[in-house]
Amino acid sequence: MNNIKTYVEQHKDRFIEELITLLKMPSVSADSAFSQDVINTSEAVKIALEKAGCDQVEVCETPGYPIVYGEKIIDPNLPTVLVYGHYDVQPADPIDLWDSPPFEPVIKKTDIHPEGAIFARGASDDKGQMYMHVKALEYMTKNNNLPCNVKFMIEGEEEVGSESLSWFVKQHQDKLANDVILISDTGMISNTQPSITTGLRGLSYVEVEVTGPNRDLHSGLYGGAVANPINILNKMIASLHDENNHITIPGFYDNVENLSAEERVEMAKAPFSLDAYKKALDIEAVYGEKGYTTNERNSIRPTLDVNGIWGGYTGEGAKTVIASKAHAKISMRLVPNQDWEEITELFKNHFESIAPKGAKVKVKPHHGGQGYVTPIDNIGYRAAAKAYQDSFGVTPIPQRSGGSIPIVALFEKELKSKTILMGFGLDSDAIHSPNEHFGIFNYLKGIETIPLFYKYFTEMS
Ligand code: BES
Ligand code: MN
Ligand code: MN
Repeated sequence: MNNIKTYVEQHKDRFIEELITLLKMPSVSADSAFSQDVINTSEAVKIALEKAGCDQVEVCETPGYPIVYGEKIIDPNLPTVLVYGHYDVQPADPIDLWDSPPFEPVIKKTDIHPEGAIFARGASDDKGQMYMHVKALEYMTKNNNLPCNVKFMIEGEEEVGSESLSWFVKQHQDKLANDVILISDTGMISNTQPSITTGLRGLSYVEVEVTGPNRDLHSGLYGGAVANPINILNKMIASLHDENNHITIPGFYDNVENLSAEERVEMAKAPFSLDAYKKALDIEAVYGEKGYTTNERNSIRPTLDVNGIWGGYTGEGAKTVIASKAHAKISMRLVPNQDWEEITELFKNHFESIAPKGAKVKVKPHHGGQGYVTPIDNIGYRAAAKAYQDSFGVTPIPQRSGGSIPIVALFEKELKSKTILMGFGLDSDAIHSPNEHFGIFNYLKGIETIPLFYKYFTEMS
């Protein structure tokens, strides 16, 4: 299959152009102002899958955004790879902080990407990574070397919790039957040291509201005499971590799976420079749970973070006011064995219990999902490792990630198969941030590596 390199070389300009066309579509699932764009993007994905050689492609309606399903079955006796990805993207806000408009892709060189990177919302998460699979399929069908069956399932609600996909998967176990699930929606250590993601954190996302007096008050006339909901909310939030940055919610750590000393030693072997990490973020020191390294804090340990907080007067100038209400959005990243619904309940009970008299608290759960860890002693992992070895000339390192793709745990439960997370992004891609980008090297390397996975997985099956 040596000529995948040649094929990529011959067609790379078109591959980049096609991705740019897709990136121009603002498929922001969180904001209903873009709903028509999200739907249009599902149509574009359908056409791309047809052109790449899928026999049967459908845009499946759901209570939310459509799921694009396509397949190419060459022989029912051969193994089947199910590719999952998402065509929706995060909102581009704050738009002012982008150096170029988020939906007008541009290619620019960076220190990490001397060969250039495509800057646009969704470039890395996940349109660029999803589209690598479409182009890899194109290569295999055009060159008659697709070694097994393939099914594609590309959704439009990943960034808002994959609700419709859960519904779809539970309903279509037979249609989605497969031997392995393949996803490129994560990252790797660097362009010279590939890694395969072997774990994802779970998530519980909640919104809280604190109400004090029944109306906004003059902060002089009433200040000091009534509970100020913004002060109270901040006090409550601050109390959720102790002096060691441990989370104080009773029972929060009860089911946390602790790694053995050997596993932690193994983890610490992955190349990592704390200095480079601090420099990239322009911070003087890292911060987190006592007793754990930076890489442990952001992968094998659970967290609690405020994602947004608002209330009172935030306009120009000064207004003297005690607001009636204060709000915050809080995410908890969870590790294996923590159940997201149980954690949501623990949070709710605790948060309500610490509210002082004179303030009312409401906790509204948003969405969540279980964490995931996958062993490396299976053919899916071995085939992926061999594929990276071939295309990068370096053995990939298994690594647990701090991010979440909640649907992966559901895949395992409903479809009974393992997921292989072959991500080609980098932490520096700025996913969910202004100036998101995806390296041209990463994009083309992904297209080159994926057909090798199909080859080795089929051989090992
Ligand atoms: N692709 C990301 C998750 C990711 C990125 C995992 C990098 C590992 C490495 C995904 O699109 C995402 O952003 N997930 C959300 C959760 C979702 C329920 C909104 C997340 O992790 O915040
Ligand atoms: Mn993603
Ligand atoms: Mn994302």
